[in-house]
Amino acid sequence: MHIRQADPADYPYVIGVVDQWWGGRQMAAMLPKLFFVHFRDTSFVAEEDGAIAGFLCGFRSQTFDDEAYIHFVGIDPERRGAGIARSLYERFFEAVAPRTIVRAVTSPVNEHSVAFHRALGFEAELSDDNYDGRGEARVLLVKRLA
Ligand SMILES: CC(C)(COP(=O)(O)OP(=O)(O)OC[C@H]1O[C@@H](n2cnc3c(N)ncnc32)[C@H](O)[C@@H]1OP(=O)(O)O)[C@@H](O)C(=O)NCCC(=O)NCCS
Repeated sequence: MHIRQADPADYPYVIGVVDQWWGGRQMAAMLPKLFFVHFRDTSFVAEEDGAIAGFLCGFRSQTFDDEAYIHFVGIDPERRGAGIARSLYERFFEAVAPRTIVRAVTSPVNEHSVAFHRALGFEAELSDDNYDGRGEARVLLVKRLA
């Protein structure tokens, strides 16, 4: 497994599989190409056997100079449980150093995502019930890097 920076050429493949990788949830609209253009040095692709096995899109906060944010992480369902997402997160943590606070937001229905983040040492807190103005709560995740 090889991790490298994301590239605009990765986008067509990723956007074509993202809904399927999220179990049929409609996620593609939340992942615009701009992550593969303007956030390349903090977005990564994992390759295995010449294929994209997973990806992570994140960025350094423009507002808080000690924080970074992970927007999306997805792993090919055939390749889960092998540490690929953990490796992508570790690569991201290195990329954003010396920033020490990493945040992410996930849906309460995505229990796998919450469990994954807890396994990586994130703390989870439920937001109010109108986080994005659409009448839904979110799970707010934060990890403080040593
Ligand atoms: C969540 C997801 C990214 C995990 O990817 P993965 O490559 O299988 O995860 P890893 O193998 O790196 O697992 C890292 C740790 O998380 C834990 N973990 C991963 N998935 C888990 C699950 N479904 N339930 C409980 N723990 C889980 C692993 O046990 C592991 O812990 P350990 O290192 O202490 O043994 C993957 O299941 C996925 O792509 N899901 C659909 C997309 C999604 O929901 N993304 C997150 C929201 S943006």
